[in-house]
Amino acid sequence: MKITCFEGDGIGPEIVASVLRIIDTLDLDLEFEKFPIGQRAYDACGKLIPDEAIESIKRNKIVLKAPITTPIAKGFRSVNVQLRLLLDLYANIRPAKSLPNVETRYGNIDIVVFRENTEDLYIGDETVISDDEVHAIKKITRKASKRIIKAAFEYAKANGRKKVTCVHKANILKKSDGLFLDIFNEIKTDYPDIIANDIIVDNACMQLVMNPSQFDVMVMPNLYGDILSDLTSGLIGGLGLLPSMNLGDEYALFEAVHGSAPDIANKDLANPTALLLSACLMLDHLNYHEEANKIRKALFKVLENKEDCTRDIGGNSTCSHFTSRIIEEMY
Ligand code: NAI
Repeated sequence: MKITCFEGDGIGPEIVASVLRIIDTLDLDLEFEKFPIGQRAYDACGKLIPDEAIESIKRNKIVLKAPITTPIAKGFRSVNVQLRLLLDLYANIRPAKSLPNVETRYGNIDIVVFRENTEDLYIGDETVISDDEVHAIKKITRKASKRIIKAAFEYAKANGRKKVTCVHKANILKKSDGLFLDIFNEIKTDYPDIIANDIIVDNACMQLVMNPSQFDVMVMPNLYGDILSDLTSGLIGGLGLLPSMNLGDEYALFEAVHGSAPDIANKDLANPTALLLSACLMLDHLNYHEEANKIRKALFKVLENKEDCTRDIGGNSTCSHFTSRIIEEMY
């Protein structure tokens, strides 16, 4: 089967090369169609997402994506937001699970954030009223809220998780977040075996830092999901470690949560872990569970020895050495 693969910008090509080197050793029936998108594509053809790349996604339905640099200029919409809307990838799922031998201030973290991915303030509907006043629209619909909340409960049910927590600000945003919370309260009655509760977003931030073990699956509108999933990445040791998947009814896109890290690009210093764990989620999605677990097991083994790790997690090694060590551990 074919998978569309975006090499991205900055450290993107290095971490994609690392991940494909590891997956290639599995000898699976997978072929990766690679395309540059983002800054490199824009420089080459004047489009952030070339037409051939979009055609490839429409054919293959599955995407493995490296981070993209968003040009800082007026008029550019983030490629990530464009892809999520174009492919209706409504569920952004970010599992933050403690990794062995990565030191953090916290013990055993295992929290899965379900972020609504298509609306809220991210619709980018901003109106300049005057030089001194700008309005931004926060859009919350029954359809989008229902499907992300249902996805969170279904995930909890399928994965033996005990609790789903709805994060909101319905005390202030009574109508918009109020609708999201009402829908959560409707849907939870279909899942009597799962504990369902809700929490106001500011309190959720404090509780995540003070007592994260109380959380299991969390579901929320787009903006809170963006912020809280960076927070949960901090609980497990940083952005370089957090994988994600973006799911819709037709397409699935797997990517690291971190950006293109231009400060360390082309130096063989990047940590490929987040993209590798995202690729493992992709293999799980394709029912290659054994292979995904084989990679995870080898990765966790390599993390035991700091000398083999990259600098961001306290080592002094390179992306290519780290990759080679994972492959050695797999066989
Ligand atoms: P960033 O996540 O690229 O970097 C933040 C810090 O973390 C840097 O010091 C970087 O060296 C380090 N870092 C990130 N990933 C790492 C890895 N795998 N291994 C080792 N160190 C790593 O965030 P920044 O600098 O704010 O953004 C850079 C560019 O990335 C921007 O153009 C931004 O728009 C874009 N971006 C793209 C995303 C995506 O495509 N999904 C997500 C976030 C940002």
